[in-house]
Amino acid sequence: MSDGRDGADLQLPQKENWGSKIGVVLAVAGSAVGLGNFLRFPGTAVNNGGGAFMIPYFISFLILGIPIAWCEWTMGRLGGTYGQNNGPGIMYALWRRAPAKAVGTLTLVIPVLVYMYYVLLEALCLRYSFEFFAGGFTKMFAGAAADAGSAGVVDASGNFTVNTFGIGQNGSMYSSSMLWIVLACFGVNFFIIYRGINRGIEIFCKVAMPMLIACAVIILIRVLTLDNAVDGRTINSGLGFMWNPDWSKLSNPEVWLRAAGQIFFSLSVGFGLILCYSSYLRANDDVVLTSLSASTTNEFCEVVLGGMIIVPTAFLFLGPGTVSPSTFSLGFITVPAIMHFMPGGSFFGGMWFGLLFLAAVTSSISMLQPAIAFLEDGFGLRRRSSVALLAVFTMGGASLIMYFSVGATALDFTDFWCEFMMILAGLGQVLIFGWVIGASKGVEEANRGAEVKIPKAMAYMIRYITPAFLIVILVLWAYFNGPSRLQQMSPGQMGAQAEHAAYVQAVEDHAASESLDEAAAKSLVADLLGSSESFSIESFPAWLRSADSSASEARISAGKTANVARFVFVAVLLFVVGVFVLSDIACRSRIGRSIEQAEKNRSLGRAQP
Ligand code: ALA
Repeated sequence: MSDGRDGADLQLPQKENWGSKIGVVLAVAGSAVGLGNFLRFPGTAVNNGGGAFMIPYFISFLILGIPIAWCEWTMGRLGGTYGQNNGPGIMYALWRRAPAKAVGTLTLVIPVLVYMYYVLLEALCLRYSFEFFAGGFTKMFAGAAADAGSAGVVDASGNFTVNTFGIGQNGSMYSSSMLWIVLACFGVNFFIIYRGINRGIEIFCKVAMPMLIACAVIILIRVLTLDNAVDGRTINSGLGFMWNPDWSKLSNPEVWLRAAGQIFFSLSVGFGLILCYSSYLRANDDVVLTSLSASTTNEFCEVVLGGMIIVPTAFLFLGPGTVSPSTFSLGFITVPAIMHFMPGGSFFGGMWFGLLFLAAVTSSISMLQPAIAFLEDGFGLRRRSSVALLAVFTMGGASLIMYFSVGATALDFTDFWCEFMMILAGLGQVLIFGWVIGASKGVEEANRGAEVKIPKAMAYMIRYITPAFLIVILVLWAYFNGPSRLQQMSPGQMGAQAEHAAYVQAVEDHAASESLDEAAAKSLVADLLGSSESFSIESFPAWLRSADSSASEARISAGKTANVARFVFVAVLLFVVGVFVLSDIACRSRIGRSIEQAEKNRSLGRAQP
């Protein structure tokens, strides 16, 4: 096939398109609805003010979610008319400058990186669904409950999760069945992607989305009709626990940051997924209503289904103490335990993790498509080669995250840098839309083919308010996360802290064995270790010196963890730079030529009588 370099062939390659309006809505909603809705949202909301959290959440939805989604939909559809389905190509078609390629680069890098850890959580959901349906959990929890009641069940669930996910030992996931389940998840994802937009993603989402929503509704009905009381708690008081507002939280800027982060992650805005999916629309397909429909579906799944199931049930069966601030622990330790106490829990537990698996797959496939489109558009690779290349690359990344599993550090840091890049990419996209294309022109473009038009005032929001809000979020993000994350990447500091903590523990154990009260124990710690991490081992009494082997183990292990965090940072940075270079090469060659060709076709079209 001619690549059009000589300009003789003015036909652009035949592009794939979505088959139906409902198909694209379900595919984009599928990309949005995922673990973020059912696991991340309830934990974040309940720990950040409950009902009060909905204020920053909805403000973020209105100021960030909806406008950025509209920008992405519009720019993606426009980029598609230049024959581009990849982030760098779409942005470069709209603005022939390096910053456009940089924003495009982020929209490729983020989904690939998120995929590398997301697929592991997806595999965990599949594993848990099997465990419930096959009766493994029922047997294990029944034994634990007989030994130690509900605390025993939570412990058993915790141990299972820690072992299954290798939280305690690097590399242990390789020797468990998780390896095969992760491979199976890779197989499912890449099979769907290989089949393409219409025959793969669209068909899958058309089946999976109604199925998972139906499962969630059934589980919600089960939860809302739980009529038993446990230690005086009822499901109604559980709903109160989740939703009663704690207004005092609103004065905490971190709560606003969490709300904005949740909107980004949950709606999949800033990722570049919408940009990619919308580029497969036809030039006059409605983007305004389609975007709103997908966002509304996401909000329904998040607030109504996600917000009413796990936290109220955890409160009812296990009490407020088990609703941990960590989404991972809430989702994978608390939830399996509560299902044990719920009537019909094996069935509902299997169904719950099954629906999470489906929700995760509809999201993870959308994280692969941008890179596939880039390899095809930018380097002319065929579907088979681009799928194979991406599969090998993402398997490499996921294997590293799987290997460095202690404390889920690699996963956590990958997620952390992705969140940062998402805010940057979102900001870059609204700035290009509002200031380069021009907000009014952009809104006009969005309104082409729209049944319901975006009001003109939205142009003002996109040009000024959304970017300003994003800049505030970026500053808050750096302020709250920067210092602690930098520290976590320092082996020296982390090692010293861990060593100090180990000695503190040894002093506390000694104080307990001597039956000292709390004040006396504290003063002993202060005398022997001081208030900082600088202390002299030579001055320690013999009983404390005997703790030095465990203290030095703690130092080495904390240092290793910090090295993993550093490694993730360097790897992410190299990946960003590498993809930027590739984007630059592609934009100067194949992508650039195909954009020129599209422009020639347009002017020829205009010149036709
Ligand atoms: N939007 C996807 C989720 O919420 C990534 O899981």
